[in-house]
Amino acid sequence: MSEFKKLVFSGVQPTGNLHLGNYLGAIRKFVALQEDSDCIYCVVDLHAITAQLVHEDLRAQTRSIAAAFIAAGIDPVKHIVFNQSAVPQHAELAWVFNCVARIGWMERMTQFKDKSGKNAEQVSLGLLAYPSLMAADILVYRATHVPVGDDQKQHLELARDIAQKFNIDFGGQIKSAGLGLDIVVGEEPVHAYFPMVEPLIGGPAPRVMSLKDGSKKMSKSDPSDLSRINLMDDVDAISKKIRKAKTDPDALPRETEGLKGRPEAENLVGIFAALADKSKAEVLQEFGGQQFSAFKPALIDLAVNVLAPINLEMRRLLDDTNHIDAILRDGSERAGVIAEKTMNEVRDIVGFLR
Ligand code: TYM
Repeated sequence: MSEFKKLVFSGVQPTGNLHLGNYLGAIRKFVALQEDSDCIYCVVDLHAITAQLVHEDLRAQTRSIAAAFIAAGIDPVKHIVFNQSAVPQHAELAWVFNCVARIGWMERMTQFKDKSGKNAEQVSLGLLAYPSLMAADILVYRATHVPVGDDQKQHLELARDIAQKFNIDFGGQIKSAGLGLDIVVGEEPVHAYFPMVEPLIGGPAPRVMSLKDGSKKMSKSDPSDLSRINLMDDVDAISKKIRKAKTDPDALPRETEGLKGRPEAENLVGIFAALADKSKAEVLQEFGGQQFSAFKPALIDLAVNVLAPINLEMRRLLDDTNHIDAILRDGSERAGVIAEKTMNEVRDIVGFLR
């Protein structure tokens, strides 16, 4: 049996300010993975128009995410950083996947249900098909590993379902074109053109919660800016938001068990651990028994130490838009070569006349 070559892919939408959830759930992992894997990181501007069509500053937002990637430590020369719309093969493969996937699969997505609410008939068709484009983003590179926050887990399961259905529906064509690999899915040997993507979700902060409400995800769309730390926040804003973060009156526990039922405490300990590259247990060994009045200043120091240099470098990079644009163009060209190879094969498998 063979295996697909390890390749990491992930994407971030250029909508609203990046926050600590995006950084700890995704971007910090992107940085770590480049040590031992080939990585492709994408600013997903096609996804950005699914929920809101007209953006005054989509180009600026796109540059800002690219700047955040690079400021956080992603190397756009060794790896690939680009924007999705510049590689049209994403949209082309998404069309094929729209015909592979079933409407019911899309309607079941919790993010679709949350975003469409009672208005499901009135949202864009793009919002419904969003996960199909996401599967295409990954599979147009036949990428195998996808670092994301916990909220994307269901979308990645769907990407696996789409890959599997494509592999089965076109099984004969894949074999007769001499394409694909024999892999094992579960216990079953299958001949696959697309790999089964592995989500990389772990770590101490896979779901960073709102600073105001430990039961809600930290989110770009929360109306309260105090609920999140933005990557562009200055030292004063970071300090103020952590000082005002909701907590409970008890001291921190000495063991992770003691965090159960204390969502705000669990969130702040998880944030500390992720920023310090430690486990929650290690953080509690240090701070167990102490009050939040002692823990919060240490968290402020740590957050400022990690985020201030990123913030500074982002501002420096954004001063020279030509430089960022050149990086994205170079990335798009290199991504386009890989994507076009896949699409040529997919066109043959599906049977489009060329
Ligand atoms: P997006 O732009 O909403 O978020 C980018 C990344 O940040 C993670 N994230 C969080 N992690 C922990 N705690 C939080 N509170 C939090 N909020 C956001 C997200 O899980 C994500 O990893 N659909 C994707 C973008 C996308 C994509 C892809 C990702 C498009 N194509 C292909 C992977 C592969 C999204 O909207 O992410």
